[in-house]
Amino acid sequence: MTDRYAVIGNPIAHSKSPLIHGMFAKATGQDIAYFALEVPLGGFALAVDAMRLDGGCGVNITAPFKLDAFAYATSLSQRAQLAGAVNALRFNGNEVEGENFDGVGLVRDISVNAGIGLAGKRILLLGAGGAARGALLPFLAEQPAELFLVNRTVTKADALAAQFADHGRVRAGGYADIGDQRFDVVINATSASLSGDCPPVPASAFAGCQLAYELVYGKGRTPFLAITGAANGMQLRDGCGMLVEQAAEAFAWWRGVRPETAAAMVAIEVPIA
Ligand code: ATR
Repeated sequence: MTDRYAVIGNPIAHSKSPLIHGMFAKATGQDIAYFALEVPLGGFALAVDAMRLDGGCGVNITAPFKLDAFAYATSLSQRAQLAGAVNALRFNGNEVEGENFDGVGLVRDISVNAGIGLAGKRILLLGAGGAARGALLPFLAEQPAELFLVNRTVTKADALAAQFADHGRVRAGGYADIGDQRFDVVINATSASLSGDCPPVPASAFAGCQLAYELVYGKGRTPFLAITGAANGMQLRDGCGMLVEQAAEAFAWWRGVRPETAAAMVAIEVPIA
């Protein structure tokens, strides 16, 4: 019998996950059906209950339900616990395992697809919301020389850095504290690009930078990517690779086989230039 999976969100029509997982299933010969499910706010638990009763095997979760999924899970991985959010559930009888693959997907896109190892690097991470929080543990696991976490509301960056202090060298501040410091990798994990804004990061932060990464995907050259100058061979990436890599992690977790990601990346990519 065909095993069934879904991505749950609201809205969900824009989701690329059915396309990505469909490609993975075809390439690996896995007999699955994967569909998009729009659920009303407050209706997450009911929808997942129904899917489990109906023999579903697991779900991906996107905005605004990652906290609902966190609450719904009966067990959580360490990275889901530290991220404070769940983006994949696996159903196993009465048990519902919660995972968060967003951060590992991001790190894999940087280290494998962009070819930039993070060990010993200086990372500037902008934002202290859910997206930044999910990336912190996987980043620190790569043992960068330093991770500087900057947020408009500095108290949020301080609190987050304190929470992750046991996991690596993380320091917090506001945009004014960036000064003339330089970084190897600059990540925009704010939601500024969704409203056409740019976090107030000085252009000097990109001097000598190897990679500027916009977590938002499919928006082309966002204001953040535009201010980098894109000089000296600096790579510009958006969250397409992260989306595909987190999907591959979830697929491997569910199916026990890790798909190749290159073809799915090409299928969903929107040119940045
Ligand atoms: P997400 O889950 O996408 O991370 P979030 O939890 O609402 O969304 O967090 C949004 C992040 O983007 C926050 O770090 C926010 O900064 P504040 O905590 O100071 O609000 C940041 N952000 C949003 N718009 C921004 C802008 N125009 N400039 C700088 N930071 C911005």
